[in-house]
Amino acid sequence: MKKIIVFTILAATATLLAQHPASPAHAGETDTVHSITLPEIPPTLKDGPGKDKVITLCAICHTPDYIPMQPRLPAKTWDAEVHKMIKAFGAPINEEDAKVIINYLTTEYGTGK
Ligand code: HEC
Repeated sequence: MKKIIVFTILAATATLLAQHPASPAHAGETDTVHSITLPEIPPTLKDGPGKDKVITLCAICHTPDYIPMQPRLPAKTWDAEVHKMIKAFGAPINEEDAKVIINYLTTEYGTGK
């Protein structure tokens, strides 16, 4: 089993090296500053109190689009979902912020229950 893993890693490394050979064309370009502009992908969340916290705290690990992708959920399911992010996945969100977020999710993406 170990041999297979080592072989796989070697094969993957070889493939990467083959695709990106050290290019002499870029040697010596150390004093040139290159910049790129990343595309802005606007979050598609509904406006409402707490939206800013959701964007700051819930989009650390994945797109906030995971929220509107869910069916409308009752308050206790959103509560469980937020606490799953905190307990199971380690989201750095304190109880005070969690309450604001759960309230936002229940109001904007809830079932009214
Ligand atoms: C520490 C990383 C992290 C943070 C921060 C985080 N999540 Fe997640 N989230 C995950 C992971 C991991 C999954 C499941 C794996 C996947 O499908 O990407 C997930 C999945 C989800 C899903 C899909 C349904 C599910 O349970 O799999 C929803 C909805 C969701 N997160 C909402 C939130 C909300 C709301 C917040 C803010 C309170 C949040 N997440 C913050 C890591 C995080």
